[in-house]
Amino acid sequence: MLAILGGALLLVVAGLVGGFAYLYASMDIDTVGEVEFDRPLAIPPLAPSTVAEDGTRVFDLTLQPGEADFGKERPTPVWGVGGGYLGPTLRAERGEKVRVDVTNDLPEDSTLHWHGMHLPAEMDGGPHQMIDPGATWSPTWEVDQPAASLWYHPHPHGRTAEHVYRGVAGMFWIDDPAAAELPLPREYGVDDVPVIVQDKQFDGHELDEGETFLSGQGILGDEILVNGTPGPYLDVTTQRVRLRVLNASNARIYNFRFADERPYQLIAGDGGLLPAPVELTALELSPGERAEIVVTMRPGESTVLRSEPLTSTGNRFAGADDRFDILELRAADALRPSPEVPTELAAPPTLNSEDVVGERTFRLAGTNINGLEMEMDRIDMTVEVDTTERWIVSNPDGSPHNFHVHDVQFVVESVDGEPPPPELRGWKDTVFLPEGREVALLVRFSDYTDPATPYMFHCHLLRHEDRGMMGQFVVVAPGEEAAPHAGH
Ligand code: C2O
Ligand code: CU
Ligand code: CU
Repeated sequence: MLAILGGALLLVVAGLVGGFAYLYASMDIDTVGEVEFDRPLAIPPLAPSTVAEDGTRVFDLTLQPGEADFGKERPTPVWGVGGGYLGPTLRAERGEKVRVDVTNDLPEDSTLHWHGMHLPAEMDGGPHQMIDPGATWSPTWEVDQPAASLWYHPHPHGRTAEHVYRGVAGMFWIDDPAAAELPLPREYGVDDVPVIVQDKQFDGHELDEGETFLSGQGILGDEILVNGTPGPYLDVTTQRVRLRVLNASNARIYNFRFADERPYQLIAGDGGLLPAPVELTALELSPGERAEIVVTMRPGESTVLRSEPLTSTGNRFAGADDRFDILELRAADALRPSPEVPTELAAPPTLNSEDVVGERTFRLAGTNINGLEMEMDRIDMTVEVDTTERWIVSNPDGSPHNFHVHDVQFVVESVDGEPPPPELRGWKDTVFLPEGREVALLVRFSDYTDPATPYMFHCHLLRHEDRGMMGQFVVVAPGEEAAPHAGH
């Protein structure tokens, strides 16, 4: 009897182990060689703007449901900006005053956040700037930061993952005169191309919002869209092409390489141009991060941008073993010549370790930071304006996270105690933290004091953020105290 029971138990255990092994084995995704590349890459339109009497550049965006052709048997219901999937690219010059009239025609309240933008907290579009259905929100600010590829997306607390996944996102490019003088590819959609990379899973023709079993990371899809295009190719007509890559995925981390292992030049990160180009064959990019790369092509050839297994983490449940074909580059038989990438690009970031007046630590674990989950009415930190701080951010967890700070671009001072690699030596607003990593950041909040309205810091894996891996800080004048609005 006991033997029979024991045997049955053994069978159950074996079944569980076998089931787990099966699930584990079936969890890695590989689309390399399987993507047709039969659709031209969609280029998001440039958002039209008008100039008001006082010189303000005014954009008009409407968040709304729509449909998109993702190559399924029927159009996929999506959300987006202006109808369809994703939204237009906004472009403004440093020094310009801008206003964006954001109308919410979605069936629920949402926000629109300007990721990477230096601006007053009230204009930030975080979870305290909700836009009711039918309402219009009109943030306005002066663009005051170097040329960069920023982006925008909703930020309603607890629902950011769904709103971004359904398609509300787009890019916001900043130009400045110094960057404009560099001999870099700059013809929009021709040799200067937005590349918004997202993974999706489908249930028939619909986006599947269910989360991957066994993964605490949130949605990890098995198909890639670039600018909303499945299986995209880009016709290249110039000798060099600049790809402004945005990881706008909910949870997926990519390791970007070319099929033929060709090197490419990284010229810019989140907050703008690097001091000098960095030649790479591989680059990992976590959700929210951007990388501008320049790729050199020979007439008539083609190559494929891929994502290969991650090297900084081996966590299969976080997608570390997955491989994807992403975008095919097809060079024309005759290519217009492009100038060489300059050896100097921009002044290095100006924050210094010697100026640090204080240190804070951030431990990312589970779905919290320093043991605390996000509370809308709790201000976690009060920062004095115009002081430089060191923020030590660590991931003692068993799965990858990253860390994003609103309002600023920061400097990565060290990674696990070592000087940062060259690709992290420009301004950043989001930094990747694989398991066990610790980074030291130099941050400086140079203006826009507001004791009543917080900015956010959080993990940009959107499920983590939604579940509470986020906190709030206010920037105050010397001697001032945080004074959160009642009722938020
Ligand atoms: Cu891209 Cu707080 O977000
Ligand atoms: Cu942000
Ligand atoms: Cu996280």
